[in-house]
Order: sequence, then C-alpha cells, then structure tokens
Amino acid sequence: MKYILQTKNLVKSFGGVHAIDHLSINIVEGQITGLVGPNGSGKTTLINVLSGFFPHDSGEIIFSGVNRNKILSWENQIYNITRTFQQIRLFEQMTVLDNILVVLTERSPIYSLFERHTQYHLKCAEDILRKIGLHEKLSHRASDLSYGQRKLLEIGRVLAMNAEIILFDEPFAGLFPETVKKIEEIIQNLKQEGKSIVLVEHNMAIIRKLCDHLIVMDAGKLLAEGHPEKVLSEKIVLEAYLGE
Ligand SMILES: Nc1ncnc2c1ncn2[C@@H]1O[C@H](COP(=O)(O)OP(=O)(O)O)[C@@H](O)[C@H]1O
Ligand SMILES: [Mg+2]
Repeated sequence: MKYILQTKNLVKSFGGVHAIDHLSINIVEGQITGLVGPNGSGKTTLINVLSGFFPHDSGEIIFSGVNRNKILSWENQIYNITRTFQQIRLFEQMTVLDNILVVLTERSPIYSLFERHTQYHLKCAEDILRKIGLHEKLSHRASDLSYGQRKLLEIGRVLAMNAEIILFDEPFAGLFPETVKKIEEIIQNLKQEGKSIVLVEHNMAIIRKLCDHLIVMDAGKLLAEGHPEKVLSEKIVLEAYLGE
C-alpha cells in the first residue's frame, strides 16, 4: 500500500478540548479510506486540518512523503486536495450551471482572461451535471433544489475541482436511498479514475461496501486502523460503539 497522505502526532485543540490528540494515520493512494468514530471524536476537525481549512497546533501532515509544514503556501496547490462540508455550501442565488462554472473558471485563470465561459468550460460543466443527474435542472437556482439535489450539486462542485485527494464529510446523511446509491456510484467512479478518497460515514454497511482501508477515531485519538472487516471486529472498536 502506498500512502498519499499521512499524519504524525497531529494535534488540534479548541480551548481546552483536544479535538485531535496526537493522531498518526495513513490515507491510501487510489483507494477509499473510511473514517469512523462516535460523535465528537474529531472526524470533521481532521478533515478541516487536512484540507487546510484550519491550521493545526503541532505534529506533521505528510503528502506523498513530503512534510507539508515545510512547504511554501503556493506549493500547497500541487497537493490538490478538496473536501465536502457536513453543512452544504452553495452559491444559493446562482443557477445550478453557474455553481459548477465558477469552480471550473476559478481553476483555470488563463481561460477567464479571454472569455468568462468558453465552450470548453460549458462542456465540462454539462458533463459533470450529467454525472450527478442534475442536467435537466441546470437553469434552476440552487436555492430552489431539494436537499438531495443540493447535496449532489455540492459533490458536482467537488468533481469540478478535479483534485487528487477528496475528503467527504458524511455525504449520505439524511438522503433517500436512490440519492445514496447515486453518490456511492460517484465515489466508486472517482476511485476508478485513480483518485484517493476519505469517507466519513456512520453506516457500517456502506463502509464495508465502499472502503479498502478504515480508520477509527475516539476522543481525537486513533483507536484502530487497517482492513475494514478486521478493524470492525476488534474488541476495542466494538466497545467504543456500544458505549456511544
Ligand atoms: N470550531 C470549533 N470550535 C470549538 N470546538 C470545536 C470546533 N470544532 C470542533 N470542536 C470540538 O472538537 C471536538 C470534535 O468535533 P468534530 O471534529 O466536529 O467531531 P466529529 O466530526 O467526529 O463529530 C468536539 O468536542 C467539538 O465540540
Ligand atoms: Mg463531523
């Protein structure tokens, strides 16, 4: 197994709370790594820190063997990491199509020098909307979509970023089975394309189905890491869940 992303003794505190407490974990290249743990165990904080949304207090974040703490900020773009939010974030007053186009044009400033939306961008955006099943809604305002469609649009924006590492924070929460199935397919397709994925999810059936590698956190610490079936049968993991 090759690791694309690792943490060593990572710490992130909020006041007196150690949300991440000397955590050392591995994210596998080109595979789906599950991230589970009771509520408040630090999963979202880990995603915030890995994606650069929050700075960490101490410890190391290592991308493909290179310590990010020693990398200049402009070089961070090389590592090309993106994430979804537990709470959906969209440009509410913009159309479905424009929500995708702004990401595509931001990613390639050279095109935007000439024309805001070239045919090239339009084609990419429409391909993404077909993948997420929202092509027929392209002229609707984001605020007019259902919860499930909004979640799909957020995932469409992540696809538009074309990042190498994608962190999904509970993408299935509160969705109907058909939307869950659609997002499962999208995540499996991303793996087929060679992307490295982290998936925070509470449903163990989904974890077992999708994940190649599993990390279990409890109170900011690593409880277990390894093959999902093996990890989920460990006594310490079962106890953490029974005690929830
Ligand atoms: N922005 C924040 N400010 C203060 N405390 C926070 C913040 N984010 C998370 N925490 C605290 O850190 C701990 C871990 O939270 P979180 O990472 O959201 O857990 P999880 O995603 O596993 O449910 C909790 O005790 C939470 O209250
Ligand atoms: Mg969370």
